[in-house]
Amino acid sequence: MSGIRQFRWADYDRVVAVWRESGIGVLSRAELEAKLERDPELFLVAESGEDIAGVVLGTYDGRRGWIFRLGVHPGYRRRGIATRLVAELEKRLHALNCPRINLLVLPDNDAGLRFWQRLGYLPCPDVLCSKPLPARIPNNLSS
Ligand SMILES: CC(C)(COP(=O)(O)OP(=O)(O)OC[C@H]1O[C@@H](n2cnc3c(N)ncnc32)[C@H](O)[C@@H]1OP(=O)(O)O)[C@@H](O)C(=O)NCCC(=O)NCCS
Repeated sequence: MSGIRQFRWADYDRVVAVWRESGIGVLSRAELEAKLERDPELFLVAESGEDIAGVVLGTYDGRRGWIFRLGVHPGYRRRGIATRLVAELEKRLHALNCPRINLLVLPDNDAGLRFWQRLGYLPCPDVLCSKPLPARIPNNLSS
């Protein structure tokens, strides 16, 4: 594997392919643009030659770090790539003085749960609650 680095837009189609192969929901370009305005250094890819082998999307809200959409292409699994992606993300969050990292795993994702526990991420009893908000009215239409 060539290394871990920050996402570049030229990676987008290959990142989407990794997410699709990993059964992970794809972030649209518009969603990613909004994320990259805040903390672009926390969206990482693992390169192998011309391939994107893995991807992880981190965020920091000023109090907690969050890890989302970790995926490694099936052809590159069990080579330590996800471990290296998470280690680099942890290093970057630590540099921001982030004291704790959270993440969500579907309860039937046995491999994912084993992976996270191996890295020291332990299940909590909290239940995720969620509510969608209505789309924001563009400024030029609101008056
Ligand atoms: C989970 C996932 C990211 C792991 O990627 P990876 O690069 O293969 O992981 P690593 O090689 O760094 O694995 C590190 C350790 O985690 C554990 N692990 C990883 N995959 C595992 C699996 N399928 N079953 C059991 N344990 C597993 C092992 O202990 C492994 O060490 P070992 O290979 O020496 O036994 C990858 O399987 C994937 O993309 N899965 C689909 C998407 C997903 O579930 N993402 C996480 C959702 S929160």
